[in-house]
Amino acid sequence: MENLSIFENINRELLTFLDASPTAFHATAYMCAMLDNAGYTRLYENDCWRLASGHGYYVTRNDSALVAFHIPRPDFTGFQVMASHSDSPALKIKTNAQIEVENHYLKLNVEKYGGLLCAPWFDKPLSVAGRIVVRTPEGVRSQLINVDRDLMILPSLAIHMNRKANDGYEYNAQKDLLPLIGEGNAETSADAFLDLIAAEAGVARQDILDTDLFLYNRTKGTVLGIHGEFIAAPRLDDLQCAFSSLKGFLLASPRDSVAVHCVMDNEEVGSQTKQGAASTFLRDVLERVNDGMGRSREQYLTAIASSFMVSADNAHSFHPNHTEKADPTNRPYMNGGIVIKYSANQKYTTDAVSGAIFREICKRAQVPYQTFHNRSDMLGGSTLGNISTRQVSLNCVDIGLPQLAMHSNYETAGSRDTAYLVAAARELFSSSVSTDGHGGYRLA
Ligand code: CO
Repeated sequence: MENLSIFENINRELLTFLDASPTAFHATAYMCAMLDNAGYTRLYENDCWRLASGHGYYVTRNDSALVAFHIPRPDFTGFQVMASHSDSPALKIKTNAQIEVENHYLKLNVEKYGGLLCAPWFDKPLSVAGRIVVRTPEGVRSQLINVDRDLMILPSLAIHMNRKANDGYEYNAQKDLLPLIGEGNAETSADAFLDLIAAEAGVARQDILDTDLFLYNRTKGTVLGIHGEFIAAPRLDDLQCAFSSLKGFLLASPRDSVAVHCVMDNEEVGSQTKQGAASTFLRDVLERVNDGMGRSREQYLTAIASSFMVSADNAHSFHPNHTEKADPTNRPYMNGGIVIKYSANQKYTTDAVSGAIFREICKRAQVPYQTFHNRSDMLGGSTLGNISTRQVSLNCVDIGLPQLAMHSNYETAGSRDTAYLVAAARELFSSSVSTDGHGGYRLA
């Protein structure tokens, strides 16, 4: 595991993935291409599925969530699932976005998507990516778009005009967060922004019926530290886990259980969409896998009872400048391995059984792990595990890779941890879990 080139290669691949994935749509498209290259068959929810054992498949929903699975044999014992999320906090472009300022500047009207840190959006090149929906003779179609150049900027107010700027600033989303995109006025530049999007997409502006467009940070990801200890990049939460899950999935050799790589959208806004963890997407796929192998409802439920899910969403590393924010006895650090997350009120799904099983998976994969609790006097975040179990109720553990600056548009993590999660995911997807009904579990 400590062979340096393994870490370097995985980090290079991860940075390429992050760079190609400015939005959940792009991350999903990139993962589809990885699955295509690996020989997986694409399925569509609106088609009838004809599934064969010994083969792998994937299906998307809304072009922003994805479930891939590999069925080792028709009489599989259960499902081994790893679930992560494709979305990240960002600024989303509103309808009728263009605003002219005193006949001189053009800026864009945006709103917050998710719980973002505002400060990192200032004073660096930004651009726009997402999807547009275009009129066709038959109806409408979606098209991904990424304006791949430095396009706009959100300039800070000079300190001379706010001497208290460094004493804490309350950002007003409608006033402070609107990016500068060019010069122009109502006459010469009435639709400059949409014209740009149409030209970029190669379609007529009047054929663009609607858009889901987001700002993104143009700064490329990098490896840094005296000995290259850290990786810094946009969207590590949660594409670092999504990438690790898929890499492990593609390397695995499922034997008794169906391996299921699952990436949901909209975690950052509560998961309550048709492509979010609260939706039926995962359950629908698992039921269709069961039905497709000619199995009964009874067999589905016995398989669910012999299944295991890893909810993989990045975790807080303890911060070198804010050591007081960490729990006294559970202090994850970057490159310390996979973080198992606990919460007594079950914001995280981990319990003694799922925590123990995941420790065994890490041990078999020969990767380090560590534990996270919030301080008892602090409220923590939540994630997708406990939302997903409302639809598919199975043993679940919440884990993540340790990182700093969560929900910044440029986050920092350990340069060795991605490889650890790839190895653990590979072990998970190659194994199966069954219960004896009396508190005992067999990990095969
Ligand atoms: Co997350």
